[in-house]
Amino acid sequence: MRIDILTILPKLLEGPFNDSILKRAQTKELVEVHIHNIRDYAANKQKSVDDYAFGGGAGMVMQIQPIADCIEKLKGERGYDEILYMTPDGVRFNQKEANQLSMKKNIMILCGHYKGVDERLREQYITKEISIGDYVLSGGELAAAVVSDAIIRLIPGVLNDETSALTDSFQDDLLAPPVYTRPADFNGMKVPDVLLSGNLKEIEKWRYEKALERTKNRRPDLLDSEEI
Ligand code: ADE
Repeated sequence: MRIDILTILPKLLEGPFNDSILKRAQTKELVEVHIHNIRDYAANKQKSVDDYAFGGGAGMVMQIQPIADCIEKLKGERGYDEILYMTPDGVRFNQKEANQLSMKKNIMILCGHYKGVDERLREQYITKEISIGDYVLSGGELAAAVVSDAIIRLIPGVLNDETSALTDSFQDDLLAPPVYTRPADFNGMKVPDVLLSGNLKEIEKWRYEKALERTKNRRPDLLDSEEI
């Protein structure tokens, strides 16, 4: 898989992709991540990428030219399965969407800023608009990193058995059950007996019941939604 991210703040994305699982996925050549600085495509002398909104009002709008040129260049090099735009007014991201995106070959992600991008870009190029939650971030970069992380960890070979995505919260419509590790007794706080019993059937049953209980208490909406 290849992910191309278009941003005016490339430095903001260096951290998330250069550590831990996302870095290992790239080292193992299971994913290629390319960050593009939109400012490099600005045709004007000042290299500006934003301008006042037609019709007035507070806030700047990201201009069409630098972004359109960057997208066109990339599209000229390969086909893209999806061109995503990170925006708080997009469709709410969830595990089902992450699963689907993890099966694509080439994905482009456009990060918005200020009041957003010129609407003509959205109409012309964007195939999916994604929000990571009902709050406003100062830009789309952190959202793009969140979405990329959720996608990349699902690519076969990225996680090993111990970190397998199959037992994650949401993968089976349920939140994950509680987990414990050594010591079995910490200052009188004990690990549930069943987990020390060695009885795999009983352990599975306990985990399922706890997952169900946790989901009922914290996210009852998951139990009757078609979303996942
Ligand atoms: N850009 C700013 N806020 C965002 C959000 N909640 N989701 C995705 N992109 C954003």
